[in-house]
This record gives sequence, C-alpha cells and structure tokens, in this order.
Amino acid sequence: MEIYRASGRLSGAEGLPQKVGMIEESRKQRQLDTRIDLLRERIKDSDDLKVQDEVFDRRALMDLYALMSKGVVISLGGSVSTGKEANIFRGKGEDGTDLAIKIYRINTSNFKAMQNYLSGDPRFGSIKGTKRAVVAAWTRKEYRNLKRAEEVGVKVPHVIAMRENILVMEMVGSGEAPAPQIKDVVLDQEEAELALDKIAGYVSTLYNRANLVHADLSEFNILYHDGEPVIIDMGQSVTLDHPMARSFLARDITNLARFFKKRYGIGTEELIKEKIRAGKKAEAPVRKEG
Ligand SMILES: Nc1ncnc2c1ncn2[C@@H]1O[C@H](COP(=O)(O)OP(=O)(O)OP(=O)(O)O)[C@@H](O)[C@H]1O
Ligand SMILES: [Mg+2]
Repeated sequence: MEIYRASGRLSGAEGLPQKVGMIEESRKQRQLDTRIDLLRERIKDSDDLKVQDEVFDRRALMDLYALMSKGVVISLGGSVSTGKEANIFRGKGEDGTDLAIKIYRINTSNFKAMQNYLSGDPRFGSIKGTKRAVVAAWTRKEYRNLKRAEEVGVKVPHVIAMRENILVMEMVGSGEAPAPQIKDVVLDQEEAELALDKIAGYVSTLYNRANLVHADLSEFNILYHDGEPVIIDMGQSVTLDHPMARSFLARDITNLARFFKKRYGIGTEELIKEKIRAGKKAEAPVRKEG
C-alpha cells in the first residue's frame, strides 16, 4: 500500500534551508513545515500506520522527507514489523525497487545497552550525548555491518542509504511480500542441511574475513528466500576487538545449533566451530576495520 509519494524532487537547498538571509530562511522553513505536516497527515490518515505515531516524530519526518527529495525513497508503504528497537516499513525506491525502511525508535530504544555495544567497537569509540546521537550511531553501525558483510560474500539485504535513525535497504522477498524468517518455513532434510551449512559458513566468513560477530544470530534474524538463508539485523554486530566478541560468537553458535538440532535433528556446536576453524585457514581477512 502506498501512502505518500514525493511530489517532484526538491533541491537540497529547498529541502533543508540554508543561511541565505533571515526572510528567505523563514520562508523556506514555512514551506518545509507545510510539507512535513502533509507527510505527517498522510501517515496519520493511513489506518495501517496509526500505531506508528511514535517513530514519526518531526525529525524522522524531516529525514524521510530528505530521503524522498534525494530520490532514494520514492514512496513509503505499510508496516512490515514492529520490533523491540525499530519499526520496519515497506517502500519503493528508484526504478521501482522494493525497500525495507528500518526506523529506530529514539525514546524506547534500550540506549544504555546500545552504548555498551558501541563502546567496545573501535569504529565508534565512546559515543556520548543524547539518546538521538546514540541511536544514530547505532543505525550507522548496522549500515556499515551490513555493507561489510555483503563485501565479504555473506547474503544480507543490500543497504542503500541511511540518515540519522533511518536505514534504507533492499526488501528481501518477492515483490512487496517480505521473505519469512527461517523459523516459519518447513525445509526438507536436504534443504535444512544446506541451510545450516550456508549459515555456519557465513558465521565463519564474518569472523575470519570481516572481523565481525553477528551477536544476535537466531532463527528470528535469518530470513529464507529463493532456497537460501539471508542474515539480517546487524545493529548489534561487533568487531573482534569488542571485549565480548568471543562470548557473543559462542552464543550465536549455541542458538544456531539448538534450532537446527531441535527442528531437524542435525548439527552440533562442535561442527559449527570446526567450520570456523577451517575458515581460519582458508579465508584471509579482507581488512582490519570497516
Ligand atoms: N530487508 C528486509 N527484507 C525483508 N524483511 C525484513 C528486512 N529487514 C527486516 N525485515 C523484517 O522485519 C523484522 C524485524 O527486523 P529486524 O530484526 O532487523 O529489526 P528488530 O528491531 O531487531 O526487530 P526484532 O526486535 O523483532 O528483532 C524481521 O524479522 C523481518 O521479518
Ligand atoms: Mg530482529
């Protein structure tokens, strides 16, 4: 369902007022206000989005508007998921691409926990300041983690853009229908073995080539599309420098082994660890930091 389409592109100056004299500036501010109000009204009018008020604060609307003005997002659609930290919406991008737009909530995010994950990561250092700054750093972290994962050959949604607490990525699925989580599909024995082998390979590649640990790997954060697993949700993923990286890896392995054992009677933690050890010899790190 399409709820808003940007009416023609705005130049950067029009989208976000520059310092070009007080009068001009306030005129542009009023124009922007009107447009944001319009966007807000359209979102509110949509039944599907009534419960989403919280994510669409003024700043989020401005950022969405800026992404629309740039042509990154052409239209915003209905909700795909309301998770613990973020809401995911459908969207359309350039050339009609189906998008998944992840908007992290500012107020209800567990930003203390976010800070702990961020502070052990040399790419971010200690992010202090407002909740908004922490959530923006978190969004940037997910953007970079997904990009890095894709670079080393792990199947993840292709990221397209980010702005503040909004991450724009490709929708994994067929058309507007998002692919199911792996917990919601029934695989035959052969497919299950292939999937486990692929996922264990991805854990190994992330660790050995990208210096990354997913840190929330489970049957909830793996989609299944076109006969293949796709890893999602990498905001919390950390580099190996993080003091908890090894224990996060151990937890990922436990979750993965537990799911496949229970559901399909295959795989053990030891087998997955063996795959990672083998990867250590075969897969050279791409570069230290991403
Ligand atoms: N790129 C995508 N393509 C298709 N579906 C997606 C995509 N990204 C997220 N989803 C859907 O939205 C759900 C939530 O996404 P994600 O796990 O990234 O957010 P989250 O805030 O961590 O949510 P949760 O708290 O439920 O884990 C996913 O389980 C998946 O069903
Ligand atoms: Mg998730």
